[in-house]
Amino acid sequence: MCGIVGYVGSATASERPLEVAIEGLRRLEYRGYDSAGVALVGPGGSLEVAKKAGKLANLVEELDARPLAAATVAIGHTRWATHGGPTDANAHPHVSGKVAVIHNGIVENFHVLKDALLADGVEFRSETDTEVVAHLLARAYDATKDLTTAMQQVARTLHGTFTLLAVHADAPDTVVGARHDSPLVVGLGDGENFLGSDVAAFISHTRDALELGQDQVVTITPTAVEVTTFAGEAAEGRHYTVDWDAAAAEKGGFRSFMDKEIHDQPQAVADTLLGRTDTRGRLVLDEIRIDESVLRAVDKIVVIACGTAAYAGQVAKYAIEHWCRVPVEVELAHEFRYRDPVVDERTLVVAVSQSGETMDTLMAVRHAREQGAKVLAIVNTHGSTIPRESDAVLYTHAGPEIAVASTKAFLAQITAAYLLGLYLAQLRGNKYADEVTEILDELRAMPEKIQQVLDRAGRVREIARWMADTQSVLFLGRHVGYPVAMEGALKLKELAYIHAEGFAAGELKHGPIALIEPGQPVFVVVPSPRGRDSLHSKVVSNIQEIRARGARTIVIAEDGDEAVRPFADEVFYVPQTPTLLAPLLAVVPLQVFACELATAKGLDVDQPRNLAKSVTVE
Ligand code: G6P
Repeated sequence: MCGIVGYVGSATASERPLEVAIEGLRRLEYRGYDSAGVALVGPGGSLEVAKKAGKLANLVEELDARPLAAATVAIGHTRWATHGGPTDANAHPHVSGKVAVIHNGIVENFHVLKDALLADGVEFRSETDTEVVAHLLARAYDATKDLTTAMQQVARTLHGTFTLLAVHADAPDTVVGARHDSPLVVGLGDGENFLGSDVAAFISHTRDALELGQDQVVTITPTAVEVTTFAGEAAEGRHYTVDWDAAAAEKGGFRSFMDKEIHDQPQAVADTLLGRTDTRGRLVLDEIRIDESVLRAVDKIVVIACGTAAYAGQVAKYAIEHWCRVPVEVELAHEFRYRDPVVDERTLVVAVSQSGETMDTLMAVRHAREQGAKVLAIVNTHGSTIPRESDAVLYTHAGPEIAVASTKAFLAQITAAYLLGLYLAQLRGNKYADEVTEILDELRAMPEKIQQVLDRAGRVREIARWMADTQSVLFLGRHVGYPVAMEGALKLKELAYIHAEGFAAGELKHGPIALIEPGQPVFVVVPSPRGRDSLHSKVVSNIQEIRARGARTIVIAEDGDEAVRPFADEVFYVPQTPTLLAPLLAVVPLQVFACELATAKGLDVDQPRNLAKSVTVE
């Protein structure tokens, strides 16, 4: 959470540092948007700060009303509040003397540190944990006269999670950063350098990036990037080139990032499938640093994830168990971490995360590895922490996902998890090569089918607009349709603030049917009649049962499924596809529905209230 940007450029003061910072914050605003602020340092020892509660637009207004002096260095922050409410005073940067600091994360020992500073007569101007760091850095700088050394010293005293950036009025050519369990990447420019929570912060200026390791301090000047450990030893980052450009992070004519990302889905699935086979047609995955013999010996798979990524895991469970005949458990990362999960060297833990930074998932990854399990990460964001701490990585190629609620990453995660399932089936001999190829061909046909669903979505939009005043919506599904139902409900909660629940259709009679009253809208995800017939007919019976009690039934069914028509108030047909792949289609109308309904309510679908894209605190 919280977006961080840092910039150093030419020795001559200009508007560029502020422009780079504001543009970076605009791209990072999805990480948090409670408040925003910047600090600028110019030659001659000027340090100026502007910060405002609310969205970035408030800060921009403030800067228009009270412009800051031209500068050579800038840091900027967009906040998702942890300690202290979203007020101007609590917004970052926090200043102590000549130092300004921005922070992402939580300093867990800030009470102890604050008490010591208070006892020394330090006055606090905010309720944040971050202000403690500002005072500590100012003191350390006074003692050492070097911002890098000061940062190393302070970083060693902090517990919790943090990315910190600091500037000092006496160092108009330097930004110093530090990271511990929180993201920070370096952008390498020509005569200028950048820092950001992720590459989106500087993508319009450079695609050359440097990934930092855990517990490292980085010092950027216009012409140099120096990486050290918290102990002050020299260290190195890993250089890489970002494979998407600024245009991928723009709305591209859509009214919201959410709408754009829903429409990016055919591409996201296609890109995730690209380049996965060798010249003999065998599946090859990204950075699989786990010995094949270990993967053959795996006797249990545990998928850990949060939110939408966990629903992708639930969908994948059906396919991986079916293809590989290995039991698959799916567990919310935070629940997995704090019980006593039974995992050992023969367990493969699969961590699914769009951002690669979700703290709950990261903690679960560490816990699993401590227990001896191998961890494979399915992640969308290169340079993020979870892949670096895992034994293997399979990247989804969904491109940057900016809207807070996940859409295209969900489809890409399912696709990647299916590739993993097929890879394991191939490796373990559960499937012949031609069977794997057949399923891969079916997967390769999905982008075209997803596009068809999008092309037909006009009616979904109409219904969503009519339903803008609805108070509660239920979603039913069975088999792979069950996680789809839960994801449909989650999207509606996140975007439209409507009470929504997803149920296993078979569970209906065991409780949820009591919720049905005349007019209650219920979405039903119907399995293919061409699959196991008993599944289809059972769900059709469920539709009849709720219809008989007055529910308004909105059915997602496969082309040609006429059996549902008599019991459906509305049917959205999706192209025919094998049962296991159907979630890639069935979820799309539910995403469109939530997005359209929230838009009709006048809500901000890209930045829903109280949420953040990247949840980097537990
Ligand atoms: C947050 C987001 C969700 C996302 C979840 C997991 O809650 O609002 O959209 O599904 O985090 O994020 P990850 O980056 O780990 O996939």
